[in-house]
Formats: sequence, C-alpha cells, structure tokens
Amino acid sequence: AAVGKGNYRHFMEKELHEHPVVLGDTLRQHIDPATRAVVLPPLPFDPAVVPRITFSACGSAYLAAQVGRYWIEQVARIPVDSDVASELRYRDPPLPEGGAALLVSQSGETADTLAALRLLKQRGQHVLAVVNVSESTMDRESDGTLLTIAGPEIGVASTKAFTAQLAVLASLALGFGRARGTLSAGEEARLTAALLEVPGHAAALLEKGSEIQDMAREVALARDVLFLGRGSLYPIALEGALKLKEISYIHAEGYAAGEMKHGPIALIDRDVPVIALCPSGPLFEKTASNLQEAAARGGRIMAFTDAAGAPALRRFAERVVVLPTVDPFVAPILHAIPVQLLAYHVAVLKGTDVDQPRNLAKAVTVE
Ligand code: G6P
Repeated sequence: AAVGKGNYRHFMEKELHEHPVVLGDTLRQHIDPATRAVVLPPLPFDPAVVPRITFSACGSAYLAAQVGRYWIEQVARIPVDSDVASELRYRDPPLPEGGAALLVSQSGETADTLAALRLLKQRGQHVLAVVNVSESTMDRESDGTLLTIAGPEIGVASTKAFTAQLAVLASLALGFGRARGTLSAGEEARLTAALLEVPGHAAALLEKGSEIQDMAREVALARDVLFLGRGSLYPIALEGALKLKEISYIHAEGYAAGEMKHGPIALIDRDVPVIALCPSGPLFEKTASNLQEAAARGGRIMAFTDAAGAPALRRFAERVVVLPTVDPFVAPILHAIPVQLLAYHVAVLKGTDVDQPRNLAKAVTVE
C-alpha cells in the first residue's frame, strides 16, 4: 500500500515524528525489558573470538557504522575497521581469517555497499547486514541479517532509519561485550535500561520544536556552518553537516572538535555558526575548551548539551539547547534527532524540496 504523509507537510517531518515508535520497536527486538538482557539472534560469527570487525556502508548508514565502531571498541574491546564502501572495495585491506563484516544500509540495495559485501564474503569474512528492507539484496546475500524496524522511509535524507541503525548497533555492542566478558551483567542492565529510555526522551525532544526552529532561523542565513563533536558524537557532527548540506544546500562541515585547531579555526568568524554536540561526560571539558577557543575568535557557538553541561557552556555560547540527561553511551542517538530537526527546519525556511533534494537519490544502485 502507498505510504501517505498524513497531516505532515513532508515525509521527512512525518518520519522524524516516528522516532519514538521506531526506536522502541527496534530496541525491543534485542533487549528483554523484563531481564534487561540483550538477546541477539544466532550470528554468523562468534563475537567471543572474532579477531576483527570490518564495517562498510555509504552516506548516513556509514556514519551510523562509525558510531557502532566507537561503541564496539569501547564496550567489547574488539578491533574494528570501517570505511565507506566505495573506498573499501578498492582498498584491498588485509583481512583476518574468520573475521566479521558488518554492512549497514537502509535500502539493502546501495551498489557500493553491495559490492563491499560481496568482496568481504569472497575474502572469507562472515557477513552480517543491518538493513531496513527485508528481502533486499543485502538481506539475501549476507550470512545473517539484523533488521531495523523503521518501516518505509520515503524522504531521501535518512532520519528514523539512521537512529534505528544506531539502536541495533548499540544492542550489538552490548551483546558482544557480554560474549567477550568485557561487560558485567550489572553494566549491561544499566546500559540497556538507558537504551530503553531513549524512545521516551525522543518523544520529549520532538516537543522542543520551537527552540530548534529559532536556531534554524539563524542557521538559514549562514553560508557555511561547522559542526563539532568528540568521541561517539563526532560521527553525529558529521551527520549533522551531511543532513544540512543535503536538504538546505548550505555548505557545512563536520569536524572532530580537537582537530578544529588544525584547519577549520581559520574560518571562524561571526558569519560561521559553530554547532556543537557537547553532552556532559568524560569528554565534556575537552570539547568545551575547544568551543571556548572558537568563541574567543568571534565564533557564534550554538550547543546541544544536557543540564549538567549547560552552565559551563552558557558562559560563552550564544545558544544552548538542553537535551534530556542520559548515560553518555546513548547520547549519540539522542543528539542525532535535534540535528536532523535543525536541518529540516532550515530546509523549510529556505524553501528547498525537502523530500527530494536536487541531484540525490534515495537508493544509489549504480556505482
Ligand atoms: C543515499 C541516500 C542517503 C543514504 C545513502 C546510503 O545517498 O540519499 O540518505 O544514507 O544513500 O543508502 P542505504 O540505503 O545504503 O542506507
């Protein structure tokens, strides 16, 4: 049956509002709410002994994989490599015997990701696909599939499928940690509880529309925008920049906050908004000090943080949007939603074709 927009102006707006349901459905696939244990289906490799995981994907799915890499390395201590599929397939990386490959894709049909899947399989890797479309080519050709339960995504710019990918990858990281013996049962229960609260927080965030609309009015006037983050928020900074350029056609760059002084700081002036993803946690002080350096050079800092981070940032930031307080482990999922919302509102203000941006396709099935 054809999917409609309902009462929404755009598919993207409708899909943004589906976050709470999609995240809940996807998380409940892999977390037992009663025991708070991760329950993974049989996998094509044994995470307890797998020597390495190689991630590959394109676009937003690649950025979800990047967050997955931080999570798996941190929680399960498994070495992880990751690369965009158009590079990985020609890079010819040495691969360990019995290694695992993780392909991430909404459509399950992206040509480069599919080619990477075939190459990795041919090189003896055990292939697991994280896809949104059941019976897609990647679902059929992989040795195992974990489905995101995002439903059809029509807007070209990924929203709910991206956060659903994060939900699956977070569950996987915890499951791997348990298999590996690097994550205690207590820690597992604490982190799954944090994950299970994300759908409710997502619903609360969607109510914060007006604050983000105010921010969008300023961002819409800019010609260039810089997104900064550290750790697992760094790929979300890249995603914020990608989303903004895709649908509003404003030039945006995502950067690791600590790397800003090696280049982008030269661009900083009143006309370049700096959007920071800076939740409290182990990396807060480091990111805040990078932001202060940008502010000292006239940069206009607009920060997403939480209640604990807000007072320090308010000393120099022009805008501070306070997100719900969550465990740092789940912060990337929560920060992904406001950067998507921001891009959406900027695109609406600019009057672009939000659901069908110029020159882009939903699934890129040619190389
Ligand atoms: C296209 C879409 C992006 C998407 C990417 C990967 O570029 O415009 O939104 O992230 O393809 O697509 P996939 O279906 O493999 O996730």
